[in-house]
Amino acid sequence: MCGIFGIITNQDNISLGKVVLEGIKRLEYRGYDSCGIVALSNSELHVKKDSGKIDEIQKKINLADIPNNSKLALAHTRWATHGAPTRKNSHPHLDCSNKIAVVHNGIIENFLELRKMLTEKGHLFESDTDTEVIPHLIEIKMKEGLNFKDSVVEALKLLTGAYAVAVCHADYPDSIIVARKESPLVIGIIEGKSTYCASDIPAFLPLTRKCYIMDDDELAILKAGEVEFFDLISNERIEKELRTIEWSIDAAEKGGYEHFMLKEIYEEPIAIRNTLKISEELLRVFANILLSAENIYITAAGTSYHAALAGKFIISKFLGKHIQDIECSELETQLKGNLQKNSVIIAISQSGETIDIIEAIKWAKKAKSVKILTITNVVGSSITRSSDHVIVTNAGPEIGVAATKTYSTQVLTLALIAVSIAKIRKIISDEEIIKYYEALTGIPNIIEKFLEKNVDLIKYIVNNLEKNMNYFFLARGISIATAKEGGLKLKEVACRFIEGYSAASAKHGPISLVREGFPIIFIAPPDETYNRLVGNVMEFKSRGGRIISVVVESDEKITKLSDITIRIPQPADKYYNLFSPITFMPALQLLAYYSALAHDLDPDKPLNLSKTVTVH
Ligand code: BG6
Repeated sequence: MCGIFGIITNQDNISLGKVVLEGIKRLEYRGYDSCGIVALSNSELHVKKDSGKIDEIQKKINLADIPNNSKLALAHTRWATHGAPTRKNSHPHLDCSNKIAVVHNGIIENFLELRKMLTEKGHLFESDTDTEVIPHLIEIKMKEGLNFKDSVVEALKLLTGAYAVAVCHADYPDSIIVARKESPLVIGIIEGKSTYCASDIPAFLPLTRKCYIMDDDELAILKAGEVEFFDLISNERIEKELRTIEWSIDAAEKGGYEHFMLKEIYEEPIAIRNTLKISEELLRVFANILLSAENIYITAAGTSYHAALAGKFIISKFLGKHIQDIECSELETQLKGNLQKNSVIIAISQSGETIDIIEAIKWAKKAKSVKILTITNVVGSSITRSSDHVIVTNAGPEIGVAATKTYSTQVLTLALIAVSIAKIRKIISDEEIIKYYEALTGIPNIIEKFLEKNVDLIKYIVNNLEKNMNYFFLARGISIATAKEGGLKLKEVACRFIEGYSAASAKHGPISLVREGFPIIFIAPPDETYNRLVGNVMEFKSRGGRIISVVVESDEKITKLSDITIRIPQPADKYYNLFSPITFMPALQLLAYYSALAHDLDPDKPLNLSKTVTVH
């Protein structure tokens, strides 16, 4: 997820550089590993860009210092997905003639083929990004005689993937052309004076509350104080509703949600759709290394460790080998002296900066025959430097300290590797493979449907549970990972000592806590452990436990035994069961979020926690 911002104005009395810098700064939560600005003056594009945080770059190269007579500028703050966060990979990107500049947020899935075609036509590339193909495609179209707008239209038609783009051309000082497909883009306007484009409303909210929300496959031509909209497919003009934004700046940064944690829970569907775009080739690399490994370990910390527990369960189902999970802080202690040859370690870290996992991996790398497969959300993060292969989850920046969408994309990535293994081993039919992929691609809609209808139920449960200082999440099989993560979320943001535990093991001790009305939340997808879990539910119910269960919509048995049920709108089949740690998790994340609010706690700033622990 990156941030783009642009302005075109006819006002003389504004410091354009300052306006642009403040605008892109207000989008820094969307990405903060590099930043750039392009301004148009006297038919020339003036570009300033570098890696690092915006304030660092401003100090280093004075980003805001653009030609005084500029009336048009674009800016970009980057969250690297293709290409490390370096100066050459930062936006804007230009064509060969340095007359066309583009800033982009999204993922161009076919950029390698386009880059190959362009290179064969003699185009030279400076960066490793997917974005850089766009200005060169526009350049080709203009050389074919199309005008600026039509060149952008035709160039965008060659792209597959997601984009929000803003384009300027040195010979067209009166226009910025923007377009959107799946990545957000909004237009702010002070009629007759200035027009803004941005990834999110906060960028221009202090300047104007009047805005247009662009939809997919729409293009707009921005002029000073005016804008025209077009359908990108038919190229016909369209009318859009001019809205007035009532949000505060703070609310706008959170997209209207009260906290980043809630916003990021609601971002899970789009984050998952982005992670589903991981290349099959890269998944096969991971799959083949795991297939040829003798010993496999999976290691992480915190929420990432629970993603590891779920993911190892899914992978083991198809790999036919045991995977040992180890907390990264314990890896060296546990493996010292017996880290065998041809071992593979799967390292999972959202930030890629958690000191315990970085040190664990560095230690393991000393044993030359060990391969490190890393799954992280941050391109170029420290952990990637000690890794043999890296998959980036494309969840976008996660601002909330408690991990939510990054957990989902981590488990999803491990699930994609698992299905890739099944394909290579040919241990299941092609029809079954297709059903697993259909389940994976069906996850975003399940989460969207759940979030649409169940917030009031979750709030009701929170109010119902508030009298109880403690309760359990109990489960069997893969759902033990879900239960543990649910318990961690309550600890992190609601300061509640809630335990996620094996329902079977709970008979050896924890069940002694159960009194009349003691709440137990059972995580109960209809998988191979379901019938045993029914027995556990009855054990706790018979001792007075108040039974809350998370089940699929068609569930009956455990529903009958429950005082309250949370119903996940997914099919009751083995394909979806296997991915229930993803589809059942939003319910538990919302439970933690609203429990925090019930205790007047800020879910975004949990007590004693930080987003990344860089100390032992
Ligand atoms: C903690 C975070 O500090 O680190 C958790 O609060 C996170 O949300 C854990 O799961 C591990 O972080 P990472 O970046 O290695 O996944």
